[in-house]
Amino acid sequence: ASHVESDLVNVLFTEEQIQAKLAEMARKIEADYEGEDLLVVGVLKGAVMVMADLSRALNRHVEMDWMAVSSYGSGTKSSGVVRIMKDLDADISGRNVLIVDEIIDTGLTLSWLVTNLTSRRPKSVEIATLLRKPDALAMPVDVKYVGWDIPNEFVVGYGLDYQEKYRNLRDIGTLAPHVYS
Ligand code: PRP
Ligand code: MG
Repeated sequence: ASHVESDLVNVLFTEEQIQAKLAEMARKIEADYEGEDLLVVGVLKGAVMVMADLSRALNRHVEMDWMAVSSYGSGTKSSGVVRIMKDLDADISGRNVLIVDEIIDTGLTLSWLVTNLTSRRPKSVEIATLLRKPDALAMPVDVKYVGWDIPNEFVVGYGLDYQEKYRNLRDIGTLAPHVYS
């Protein structure tokens, strides 16, 4: 398509709604970590937009670090096996870690990450995600900050991709059928 936004058939959340929700989440995070150190960890690549906007919504000091993880196997995540493509730069022992992602689908990525990071003896590990798909949750994940629970539909935009495209949309929505054909 000539214009990327026109591939969205249905906008679920606008830029304004997303920013308002992140501001709400930021107020809770500020209150919960008051007087505490805070390291936010973004999960590449999907979390880049949430990391950029959530961290700027926080009226406090934060450190930012990044992980890139990848599921083994042929495109499907059902194996639950994850490998680290890029590890944290920071030593997180004794630190408050807040993992930031834009969506929890099956929960496999974040449940694995929580287990992995917990083994490094941080002071705390929590999760903030903009979206969660309760219907698709195959692994239980304890999520402290959730923007919205959404139906089990394929969504793109604001970091979420379809074949590596659409991450740069400002809104989140579902793709028109013609995109898939
Ligand atoms: C997507 C998304 C989450 C994860 C959620 O990332 O950004 O990180 O899947 O799915 P799950 O709950 O079923 O594990 P993906 O691995 O596709 O990589 P990306 O962030 O680079 O798009
Ligand atoms: Mg991701």
